Amino acid sequence: MTTLGTPLSPSATRVMLLGSGELGKEVLIALQRLGVETIAVDRYENAPGQQVAHHARTITMSDPAQLKALIEAERPHLVVPEIEAIATPMLQELEAAGVVRVIPTARAARLTMDREGIRRLAAETLGLPTSPYKFCDSLDELQAAIDAGIGYPCIVKPVMSSSGKGQSKIDGPADVQKAWDYAMSGGRVGPGRIIVEGFIAFDYEITQLTVRARGANGDIETHFCDPIGHVQVSGDYVESWQPHPMTPKALAESRRVAKAVTDNLGGLGLFGVELFVKGDQVWFSEVSPRPHDTGMVTMITQWQNEFELHARAILGLPVSTALKSPGASAVIYGAVDATGIVFDGVDEALQVPQTELRLFGKPESFTKRRMGVALAFDADVEKARSQAKLAASKVRPRAA
Ligand SMILES: Nc1ncnc2c1ncn2[C@@H]1O[C@H](COP(=O)(O)OP(=O)(O)OP(=O)(O)O)[C@@H](O)[C@H]1O
Ligand SMILES: [Mg+2]
Repeated sequence: MTTLGTPLSPSATRVMLLGSGELGKEVLIALQRLGVETIAVDRYENAPGQQVAHHARTITMSDPAQLKALIEAERPHLVVPEIEAIATPMLQELEAAGVVRVIPTARAARLTMDREGIRRLAAETLGLPTSPYKFCDSLDELQAAIDAGIGYPCIVKPVMSSSGKGQSKIDGPADVQKAWDYAMSGGRVGPGRIIVEGFIAFDYEITQLTVRARGANGDIETHFCDPIGHVQVSGDYVESWQPHPMTPKALAESRRVAKAVTDNLGGLGLFGVELFVKGDQVWFSEVSPRPHDTGMVTMITQWQNEFELHARAILGLPVSTALKSPGASAVIYGAVDATGIVFDGVDEALQVPQTELRLFGKPESFTKRRMGVALAFDADVEKARSQAKLAASKVRPRAA
């Protein structure tokens, strides 16, 4: 049985979000609607989620001492990581000591915080299909790995990075040094280890949103959303749509892979399983044990969007992944480097039929920072894609 309390009273159900960007903001809104008391944590002040939560806290989440002090001071019932760059070994310690429950589990947060933990789990422990790969600590090791079988083309990524940072494709021997140097500059914790992956010439890639939630008999059940197709530019998502058409075999294989990974990671909540597909063949790429950026499309396509699904699942509530309408999302970038920017053309954007807009409220804009997203629905998913892109193009950010 799930019992929820009253916020700002001794009975409150208290949830702490570690990371309060645009994805965390929507999870916080979903929790607020259920009367949950929320604590939004980020590394900078006035982060999007902090603007809608009961409490805002600003700390360095990768610092174990700061993280421990905050969790012990606040004593939330649940800690919900929204980003990867967190002192996850400390979360494991606190979870093991019974101080707090981490979503979906502290182990899942730790395994997915760098590319090595999750890749070794998927490929070596679970035997799931992935690109060929090798972890390297030097330029010499990288060259040796390519020569010994990874071959060309291949992709180099810092093990600790996201959104395509430090990531590049190697087409031939002349690119190796450049890719190594770029990876060294783009990692989250400075120079370090990389993964080199054989390039998969996929037909398309999808995000398989997968929810582990309690059923009526109390057991944890696995639910699948319709597949989300997306386009990535330099490792960053620029548009997504749902559903993406798939052959029955590719769909079944995607769900087999998603179930195997999420069963192993365990706990309750929503996961974004990234998969590459060619014909009926499917490769596991990576997984977020939390809402996924490409899943923002579900704010217009599903009765319960990915953030509501996450909020419900972690509270032990039932979920429905039913589709409301096909639809699409298109990212709005900052276009300028400035604080407190303004957005022209919001009215023109919303004049595009069957669209919605989210402006995240980030205090500082960068040329390539995601500042908002346009959403569109239409029975024809291709039409929805063009409408979402059209609406996004009407929003023109500029310095105030
Ligand atoms: N082995 C590969 N073969 C072909 N394309 C790849 C490969 N690895 C990555 N890509 C492309 O680069 C994109 C980003 O890769 P990946 O998801 O590993 O990086 P990321 O930095 O974690 O990105 P994000 O944080 O946005 O998910 C993929 O979605 C895919 O389009
Ligand atoms: Mg990815």
